[in-house]
Amino acid sequence: MKVSVIGAGNVGATCAEVVARGNYANEVVLLDIKEGLAEGKSLDMWQTAPINYYSTPITGVTNNYEATAGSNIVVITSGLPRKPGMSRDDLISVNAGIVKSVTEQVIKYSPDAIIIVVSNPLDVMSYCAYLTSGLPSNKVMGMAGILDTARYRAFLATEIGCSPKDIQALLMGGHGDTMVPLPRYTTVAGIPVTELVAADKLDAIINRTINGGGELVKLMGTSAWYAPGSAAAQMVESIVRDEKRIYPVCAWLTGEYGLSDVYLGVPAVLGKNGIERIIEVDLNEAEKALLHKSAGAVKEVMSVFDQMNA
Ligand code: LAC
Repeated sequence: MKVSVIGAGNVGATCAEVVARGNYANEVVLLDIKEGLAEGKSLDMWQTAPINYYSTPITGVTNNYEATAGSNIVVITSGLPRKPGMSRDDLISVNAGIVKSVTEQVIKYSPDAIIIVVSNPLDVMSYCAYLTSGLPSNKVMGMAGILDTARYRAFLATEIGCSPKDIQALLMGGHGDTMVPLPRYTTVAGIPVTELVAADKLDAIINRTINGGGELVKLMGTSAWYAPGSAAAQMVESIVRDEKRIYPVCAWLTGEYGLSDVYLGVPAVLGKNGIERIIEVDLNEAEKALLHKSAGAVKEVMSVFDQMNA
């Protein structure tokens, strides 16, 4: 399968590198508007192939969407990252225009592609790509849940002193302050997390997860890239290999969890058709309330986007 990554900034380049290194795609194309950036990063990556032992060809191009033609999967990372003090929603006015024009170009050359959006504000940029592309909703999704869950799992592993591999967790809702971590659905090698971590510690970890992106923006002056890029690549892998892995994915809801007409993080099966199934887990009243609150927050930003396009 052919995979294109739009945007050769830190997130896009990391994603392209992880996909190429995984050796499951036939071809990776990296595109950026900045002259020479994608070409340079791709060449540098290709020179790691003999060291890291993979064969996936990587091509870098400057704004040449023709090179992305016939892509099976396109990852959109274009747009501005956050600066300290900004919320993801502050990026909407600039990034909506960018994601819209990128999606138009992508669809022109790859009308059947599956699109994975990474640009922020994530849930609304997924909506933007969905509207612009005209693709069915199973083919347009956003990456946030794998990243947010990874942060949560990493913090838990540090706290417990165990391998992050052994932590399974579910997190739902929007990619922002209203995300919904679900300790009831968090296990450590099959053991409920509540047996291993005290309630106050768990609360602190959940809080840190919710602010996990902001913590990194504060430290680095820009937003994170290793985990976001790797998380997007993990979605690509499940689709390319038709693995049908279950991940929290930002998906268009049509009645699931009593919600519709909103992009929101929910557990979904990812395979060759994109989102093959949304899984509806049982939520208690408190969890349901948090999820609906999160949907409300995303819908508010969606309506800002709708007004911009009215
Ligand atoms: C973050 C950005 C990518 O959470 O949204 O780091």
